[in-house]
Amino acid sequence: MTAIQPHGGTLINRIAEGQAREELLQAAAGFKQIPVNTWTISDIDLIGVGAFSPLTGFMNEQDYQSVVDRMRLADGTVWSIPITLAVDDEKAAELAVGDKAALVGAEDGVVYAVLDIESIYSVDQTAEATKVFKASDSEHPGVKKLFERPSNYVGGSIQVLNRPKPAKFGEFYFDPAETRRIFAEKGWKKVVGFQTRNPVHRAHEYIQKSALEIVDALFLNPLVGETKSDDVPANVRMKSYLVLLENYYPADRTFLGVFPAAMRYAGPREAIFHAMVRKNYGCTHFIVGRDHAGVGDYYGTYEAQEIFSNFTAEELGITPLFFEHSFFCKKCGNMASSKTCPHPKEDHLTLSGTKVRGLLRDGVCPPPEFTRPEVAKILIEGMSAQVSS
Ligand code: ADX
Repeated sequence: MTAIQPHGGTLINRIAEGQAREELLQAAAGFKQIPVNTWTISDIDLIGVGAFSPLTGFMNEQDYQSVVDRMRLADGTVWSIPITLAVDDEKAAELAVGDKAALVGAEDGVVYAVLDIESIYSVDQTAEATKVFKASDSEHPGVKKLFERPSNYVGGSIQVLNRPKPAKFGEFYFDPAETRRIFAEKGWKKVVGFQTRNPVHRAHEYIQKSALEIVDALFLNPLVGETKSDDVPANVRMKSYLVLLENYYPADRTFLGVFPAAMRYAGPREAIFHAMVRKNYGCTHFIVGRDHAGVGDYYGTYEAQEIFSNFTAEELGITPLFFEHSFFCKKCGNMASSKTCPHPKEDHLTLSGTKVRGLLRDGVCPPPEFTRPEVAKILIEGMSAQVSS
């Protein structure tokens, strides 16, 4: 059985090991240092293990410009989100093309990687924001993050020397090579990937299981990197996924593994990025529902689906599965979507994120048609732990 090809054809591996790693570590002591934050450390690791294949490092100017302008790397490969390393003016002046630099954790002093500097460039962040996020105001959490970074970028391939260690739920971290092997061992030919930064509510469950009806397995792949502060913390979500899987999902067709990336909130462009990455993890299909990776009112409900029409099926290589807005319909007596339910809005049980958070904070379970009681219980406990800590 041939597994799905990684994006660009080769699963990248930039993790240095053994003697090579030792030598690089020694050499790195003499390199100029670039401090990196948690977000960049997660990018380094995801590049290293090939989750971001075909990227072998941080984007050089040509790739960056091409990604921003036309959602492709300079060689034409589909890629929608810039993966860049930002440095301040002083650091930019210190570095030179052709040098090697050590990427060092700003907080822990760990040398995470060495970088072969290919390109040092300054960018117009407002132009980047407008094209990537379709917004240029700092109310948008992705734009805010972008504007907080310096506007000099350093591009080049990396070799990873140390990997971040998950504080919790380490057993759910799998590299793309591992998920590919596991899917193959289980004999799964068609695997649908599901991205989420939220607890799995009934609407999520409905679209996951609708997809599962037509493929062999579901890869529940929650994003556990940086999210905005009002999103439910990853640790609480992980507990909620486990209780849900245990009670409501077929164990032999479901696989839980985390996606340790930062959330960009780039809506449509992030949907493409999420799909390419899940292809690298070995998924053949990818779920895109309503307002995927969206925030506030920045994107149209189905814009993250429409954007896929810019690319051919061959270029994408993974099949997106689109789902319309889903909910419990009181008249139908079941979960449905705007595509399958004939009844008016008044018959639909829909709750805003704000409303749900309010209920949970007050210790009240949302209706079981919205959230499974087992999940609600964990979310309520998680909320009260947050308040008391
Ligand atoms: S996301 O930022 O990771 O996309 P979320 O975790 O809420 O946010 O969504 C995960 C996936 O489920 C996305 O593909 C999203 O479009 C889809 N989704 C979320 N809620 C619904 C819903 N009520 N109906 C249809 N799709 C949904």
